[in-house]
Amino acid sequence: MVPWQVFKYIHILAVIAALGANFTYAFWLARAGRDGDRLVFVIESVRRLDRRVANPAYIVAAITGLAIVATGPYGIGEPWIGAAILLYVLVALLGISVYGPAVRAQLALARTDPTSDDYGRAARRARVIGLIVTAIVLVIVGLMVLKPQLWGG
Ligand code: HEM
Repeated sequence: MVPWQVFKYIHILAVIAALGANFTYAFWLARAGRDGDRLVFVIESVRRLDRRVANPAYIVAAITGLAIVATGPYGIGEPWIGAAILLYVLVALLGISVYGPAVRAQLALARTDPTSDDYGRAARRARVIGLIVTAIVLVIVGLMVLKPQLWGG
């Protein structure tokens, strides 16, 4: 294995860890239902998983992705790489400025009254934003795997 292939191996492991963790969130939230104690435990655990596993893994994916570009056969000018970098920045901004606050609001309402309509609305909002962010990440995976020409003709 040459260096860029080692980076690609680590890149793919990081993507598996990050997306794999993200996919479990809806499962655990559904298991907690509207039970206050369980919800608070699950939402806090999901946030911890995000901070300690998924987000660091996404950072490793970006660093190794750039390392593949620096040492491998693909140039930074490839349209699929440029588009992936733009979408990655968009996902990071959405995660910090929209998804994070939405989950914090959901947690605050889970602590006070998880049976309220307000909690239902906050949970739905966090779920929809989470789905949008995950959909964008899946587009990035599609760009990486299919390497479309896009504007490069
Ligand atoms: C700054 C961001 C990124 C850059 C510059 C980048 C760059 C690259 C490069 C150059 C490859 C090698 C392609 C090949 O050898 O076939 C690759 C592979 C891959 N990347 Fe990324 N990547 C980035 C972020 C991501 C993210 C965020 C994901 C998914 C969440 C992702 C998923 C993948 C996958 C699944 C492959 C394997 C594709 C294949 O073997 O056909 N990448 N990436």
